[in-house]
Amino acid sequence: MSVLPALDEKATYVERMFARIAPTYDRINRVMTFGQDQTWRQHAVNAVAPPIDGRALDVGTGTGDFLPLLAAWMPVGIAVGVDFCLPMMHSGWPKLDATYVLPVAHSAIAAQQVLTFVGGDALCLPFADNSFDAVTTGFAVRNVTDITAAFREMWRVARPGGVVACLEVARPQHRLLRLGHQLYFEQIVPWIGTLLGSDRQAYTYLPQSARTFPTPPVLAEHMRTAGWQHVHYRYLSLGAVALHTGVKL
Ligand SMILES: C[S@@+](CC[C@H](N)C(=O)[O-])C[C@H]1O[C@@H](n2cnc3c(N)ncnc32)[C@H](O)[C@@H]1O
Repeated sequence: MSVLPALDEKATYVERMFARIAPTYDRINRVMTFGQDQTWRQHAVNAVAPPIDGRALDVGTGTGDFLPLLAAWMPVGIAVGVDFCLPMMHSGWPKLDATYVLPVAHSAIAAQQVLTFVGGDALCLPFADNSFDAVTTGFAVRNVTDITAAFREMWRVARPGGVVACLEVARPQHRLLRLGHQLYFEQIVPWIGTLLGSDRQAYTYLPQSARTFPTPPVLAEHMRTAGWQHVHYRYLSLGAVALHTGVKL
């Protein structure tokens, strides 16, 4: 049975669903991905490689798993996570307190790192044009109502020369792997969600939304249409995830 909402109800549905699963989101991610999810995020952060005093934005940040990784690249930088689901960011708040990189002397003044969450919609980001050196987004564009519009907003707030990295679910290319992946994702993942105390509907939405999500070449076209150039993608974990990158020229 389909749990996918109609397009005009999708934003409310998604926001409420993530609010419900916020307390268990990180735990289930770690279990469901066999601990690989942080490695994928690290690949995305390495790909955008912000300057040490840079500004980075993570769109659809959820519980902010990208922020400590961005902070490690930017000891005197600013990392901002934006999401429209406040309970997700609330659950991730302890990560911001736990992340502390020593302030260093920079340009003759002692500069300090800033990590923060901001409430906002990926389709109408609450930031000025050309504000960020790097933009990351992980497992979020699958949930927006207009993928190209989301990438256009990321492009608008990136500075010229700024880089984007997007992680999203994909399907292994190899036929047997794809079959195993489909079985795991569609039959076992909903049970993991239920057993670990979250809701079965949310972890049924996950594989169903992945099924209707554009393939990596099509996602790359959305990024190009939005203005990103030098768009490339590569598969991670045998094709279960795709990492797309692009540059604003
Ligand atoms: C699957 S979670 C991913 C969270 C995080 N990026 C990660 O890597 O774990 C998707 C997140 O995207 C957020 N989201 C979906 N649509 C959004 C929108 N239009 N504006 C802002 N956030 C959105 C959801 O609230 C949710 O926190």
